[in-house]
Amino acid sequence: MKTIIEPFKIKMVEPIKMTTREQRNNIVLAAGHNPFLIRAEDVLIDLLTDSGTSSMSDRQWAELMMGDESYAGSRSYFKFEETIRDITGYEYIIPTHQGRAAERILFSITTKEGDIIPNNTHFDTTRANIEYNKALALDLVTAEGRDPETRLPFKGNIDIEAVGKLLEGTSLSRIPMGMMTVTNNASGGQPVSMANIRAMSELLHSKGIPFIFDACRFAENCYFIKTREPGYEDKSLKDIAREMFSYGDGCTMSAKKDAFANMGGFLALNNKEWADKAKTLLILTEGFSTYGGLAGRDLAAIAQGLKEILEEDYMQYRVRSTAYLGDNLERVGVPTFVPAGGHAIYIDAKRMLPHIPPKHLPGQALCVELYLEAGIRAVEIGSVMFGKTDAETGDFVPGQNELVRLALPRRVYTQSHMDYIIEALENLSKRKDEIRGMQFDYEAPILRHFTSTFSWV
Ligand code: F0G
Repeated sequence: MKTIIEPFKIKMVEPIKMTTREQRNNIVLAAGHNPFLIRAEDVLIDLLTDSGTSSMSDRQWAELMMGDESYAGSRSYFKFEETIRDITGYEYIIPTHQGRAAERILFSITTKEGDIIPNNTHFDTTRANIEYNKALALDLVTAEGRDPETRLPFKGNIDIEAVGKLLEGTSLSRIPMGMMTVTNNASGGQPVSMANIRAMSELLHSKGIPFIFDACRFAENCYFIKTREPGYEDKSLKDIAREMFSYGDGCTMSAKKDAFANMGGFLALNNKEWADKAKTLLILTEGFSTYGGLAGRDLAAIAQGLKEILEEDYMQYRVRSTAYLGDNLERVGVPTFVPAGGHAIYIDAKRMLPHIPPKHLPGQALCVELYLEAGIRAVEIGSVMFGKTDAETGDFVPGQNELVRLALPRRVYTQSHMDYIIEALENLSKRKDEIRGMQFDYEAPILRHFTSTFSWV
């Protein structure tokens, strides 16, 4: 059979609400033209994030009912620990309430002022947690990986030569670790090859530097290795994951992504000294080391989710349905970051709306128009999120790209939802010359995308 179907059937549904264009006009005005400030119940199809928005399976719900809520030594924790150890091979498994809590703990115990941490591309919370410790978060993704238009299988790869130069030119005591984000969310959701991971591991370890994964979407990355990298086609996703993690010394993880959980995360480490320090900090701010700010039932649901994410039927459907959206947007003339990533399609607003200069925020304009057109919510990843106003000169500093991310929650929407999104964007594409730019009304001092407000130029 050529048709790839959703490998599940629907047992429970949640209604979504249609609105009229007039209602959406009022909603957008009240929200200051910022999709983050729209109430979720006023959104028809919500593509703001794939984080914490997954549908859990009947088995995960069953695990919730069987969660053990003991303060110390809960049965659910041991299930969680055993599952993560089995997949990653790491010794110390530290639960946290979400990914950024694992990041905060890791950098608090390892990173000091003036340190440098290289990564393919740091996600914004990772960068912020490193910068909070007065260290430098360095993005060293390859040049092709930055280019939305080059079609290559592993555009998440790190520039090994650049990492080599960094290690040659810097005192090694200033590099507490090297990192790799799989898949590379801040740059098109692109995967990293096993060869690149191996090369990074060899390079760091030759200098005695630990190698840590940001593993939020590790299973999607493993599926791309299986289908794109010679030698992996006959291996199971779990075996690929085990090999990948074996090149590192630990990982941070948001279970809100590739564990189908609505909340949760963890830090996994091999180094006992780091793990002991992490557990002390965990107890101070998150909770005892066998729950880390999560309910026992959450730990149990995550353990079950981590098993389901490595099922090949699921991952084939996942990656294929993301590509379906990407391929069809290309067909109707909407330029996207290619090839399609695992969890999202990123529209290239710079190419779609060339008449709007970056300072008039083409990505933000497209997000607002998409909501007005069809009640679809997306997120700008461009000059609003990553640009800034220069504190001294007051000049506008643009972001690297002007992207609009359509993130796909796991197991939530069907192919007809995708067709609806494609039709909405085709309509917008037909009248794209009429779309105007935007300007800040209120500019938040940090993390501008969450709370700033805008108006049409
Ligand atoms: N690392 C990556 C690569 C992420 O994508 C995220 C979250 C985090 C770390 C932080 O995890 O949210 O559990 O604290 N990404 C979400 C997104 C928010 O929409 O891409 P968290």
